[in-house]
Amino acid sequence: MPTLNDIRSTFLNFFEKNDHQIVDSSPLVPRNDPTLMFTNSGMVQFKNLFTGVEHRDYSRAATSQKCVRAGGKHNDLDNVGYTARHHTFFEMLGNFSFGDYFKEQAIPYAWDLLTKDFGIDKSKLLVTVYHTDDEAADIWKKYAGLPEERIIRIATDDNFWSMGATGPCGPCTEIFYDHGPEIWGGPPGSPEEDGDRFIEIWNLVFMQNERFEDGTQRDLDMQSIDTGMGLERIGALLQGKHDNYDTDLLRALIEASANITDGAPDGPGNVHHRVIADHLRSTSFLIADGVMPSNEGRGYVLRRIMRRAMRHAHQLGAGDPVMHRLVPSLVAQMGQAYPELGRAQALIEETLKLEETRFRQTLDRGLRLLDDELDKLASDAPLPGETAFKLYDTFGFPLDLTQDALREKGRSVDVAGFDAAMSEQKAKARAAWSGSGEAADATIWYDIAEDKGTTDFLGYDTERAEGQITALVRDAQRIEAASQGEEVQIVLNQTPFYAESGGQVGDTGVLRTEGGAARITDTRKVAGVFLHVAEVTEGRIAAGEAAQLEVDHARRAAIRANHSATHLLHEALREALGDHVAQRGSLNAPDRLRFDFSHAKALSAEELERVEADVNGFIRQNAAVDTRIMTPDDARALGAQALFGEKYGDEVRVVSMGKLDGSGKGSDGRTYSIELCGGTHVRQTGDIGVFVVTGDQASSAGVRRIEALTGEAARQYLSAQAHRVDALAAELKARPDDVVTRVKALMDERKQLANEVAQLRRELAMAGGAGQGDGPEVREIGGVPFLAQVLRGVSGKDLPAIIDEHKARMGSGAVLLIADADGKAAVAAGVTQDLTGRVSAVDLVRAAVPVLGGKGGGGRPDMAQGGGPDAGNAEAAIKAAEQILEG
Ligand code: SER
Repeated sequence: MPTLNDIRSTFLNFFEKNDHQIVDSSPLVPRNDPTLMFTNSGMVQFKNLFTGVEHRDYSRAATSQKCVRAGGKHNDLDNVGYTARHHTFFEMLGNFSFGDYFKEQAIPYAWDLLTKDFGIDKSKLLVTVYHTDDEAADIWKKYAGLPEERIIRIATDDNFWSMGATGPCGPCTEIFYDHGPEIWGGPPGSPEEDGDRFIEIWNLVFMQNERFEDGTQRDLDMQSIDTGMGLERIGALLQGKHDNYDTDLLRALIEASANITDGAPDGPGNVHHRVIADHLRSTSFLIADGVMPSNEGRGYVLRRIMRRAMRHAHQLGAGDPVMHRLVPSLVAQMGQAYPELGRAQALIEETLKLEETRFRQTLDRGLRLLDDELDKLASDAPLPGETAFKLYDTFGFPLDLTQDALREKGRSVDVAGFDAAMSEQKAKARAAWSGSGEAADATIWYDIAEDKGTTDFLGYDTERAEGQITALVRDAQRIEAASQGEEVQIVLNQTPFYAESGGQVGDTGVLRTEGGAARITDTRKVAGVFLHVAEVTEGRIAAGEAAQLEVDHARRAAIRANHSATHLLHEALREALGDHVAQRGSLNAPDRLRFDFSHAKALSAEELERVEADVNGFIRQNAAVDTRIMTPDDARALGAQALFGEKYGDEVRVVSMGKLDGSGKGSDGRTYSIELCGGTHVRQTGDIGVFVVTGDQASSAGVRRIEALTGEAARQYLSAQAHRVDALAAELKARPDDVVTRVKALMDERKQLANEVAQLRRELAMAGGAGQGDGPEVREIGGVPFLAQVLRGVSGKDLPAIIDEHKARMGSGAVLLIADADGKAAVAAGVTQDLTGRVSAVDLVRAAVPVLGGKGGGGRPDMAQGGGPDAGNAEAAIKAAEQILEG
């Protein structure tokens, strides 16, 4: 008996042999369609190939696509567990042609695979075609030899497939399997068609139209094929089962659920096990694709599915959280076909455990309240909307969970009453904002959040996606459209653009709509709404339009490298300097990083060297960077450093990187850096490239600031430094290795030469040598022997030494020297000790300085100094000093 894994392989191999490219399943969160909550069929990732907007280098493809139908047009949540063929998660096998083959080839492929490779009895198969599609009916007749009565024409939308309200669509032909007369039911189109006898197994869509929001439709330029066959259905058929949940893969999950809850798989808890098996798949795959439980949008759908499963586990009497314990069984079954499941295993387990632990705290009380309320009501009365709302608001019961609980008792909920209670609460919350004194222009973002919802951030794992423009804002006013040249803030329902926070700068890039384009120059967020600061560069863009969004990849890659390097730097500083090191601020820009941290003194060269070496060591380790979601307590227990001034909700994102060799260092003894962080990071530390510190300085009291570069910026910096050394070596005619010794030697030599020059100048001055004016001649003025001289090319600081020498030679007297250095004058005067009672050197200097254009001057009676800008007046200055001596 083939397993589901075998059947998937047979399918893909068949089409590979027939020249189809095998393409990986796309993520469950559609990157290319903001109007779709989850990927709900195989064609979603190819949507733009059908419409001709996108081209790839293949025109035939086959996939096994993970799909979730739990919201929007295709929603199966309510029925799951109670029926044989409803799932929130399923795999769709499909083959696709993009303007390559059409009906004439698609039908034979399907027929051959089913009847030859899968060996299905031809006489059990019948098909439907769209009522006007004679061509398809003809091919079925000719190629498959099906008689007229087994080609049923259907005039309804059942045979006209569309992905959603908009997008490519077309007539289809569906293949059915007849389980035989012992099961009740009639062929498609008959009044008994809802019975279980005739089961649809494969849908072949002839994509030839595109549908628009206003309900109009156009013919596509090319004719394409999109087929979809539920793996679980074909699996049930090939395994001789009637119920999808009896196939090997789902059966294994049901048994795992029964094992963990000590129940029999087919006992009274059977429905619960089925719900758990199905919901385990959808929740795990959604988490692996980046969806996190929340109270909005996709995150809320995930939470609804998780909590529905958790209530069923609770009904099985499980005392502790069970969902996370089933993840290993799921990974064992499906991890090979979908490797993302294994990669995200820890994240899935932690997320499920956290949600179940928290939900259990209120589940019992909520269920009791529900029972009490029901007891008060007439046995057929619906549960009042107010009560359902209280269960939602206080106990975290999504509406469909309450409905599910009531379904078992044959009761319902007053949904209109629930909606009314919900609207009332929103109105109250809104009134609270407007009264809270928020800045007037901030209220517009709260209005948008309430009206249009917050923005889903897709940028952790993609930098290109489609989003829908939910609002345009200019000058704090909402506007409908903006045209070329205008500056606007654009709000989208989902975006890959990171909004500035936690030191990481906002993304930039481009946005394109059908009729226009805009350059995004920054991204910020308020109240969960991402605003893209933009300038319209082409045409016109309008609210409500779909937009292609593309982050500037190179810039974002550089930002990611800098942000991850900051984490490594933080830990390296703690290792080198001690646990008092805590983050005080940071900047993660594309061109540099900056990290402020508490530490009182400058780092020594050895400390800086060690920090830089440690960071680079972990970069070269090239270990995967791991992201997980957990409670703040769990994160702290793991050793995550709480960041300064950050506010956290109930769940935190924990980013870890760097593997330790068991030396026990680092926060959890195994991982080097563990931090709470909402930023974007490299996948492997090796992506950082190289890390180099370019500056270390004080930022404020007790806070140091390190500036550093990574990747290409670091390479350029290092290369520029090396070139400088080479240039220096060339100048010095030395080898680069010898540059430092050579420069030291040159500096010593220079010092020595400078001393010699000074000495020579002094000697020259004393001797009255050439260029020093007339020889030093001692004159007697006012009874004081006086020597005055103007010296050229002598530095002012050499004057005192020369004066001392003159004083020594004269034995008794006064000296005044003026040094003329490039027109500027320094003046110094000296008086021998025996004469300081009669004349002061200070007075001599103060007499000369004003004449030299300067001010002041001072010192002691035996030695004083001053200066001025006009050395040209030196002789007049000497005269002024002589007048002091003359009295
Ligand atoms: N898109 C079609 C479906 O979902 C065929 O793949 O049924």
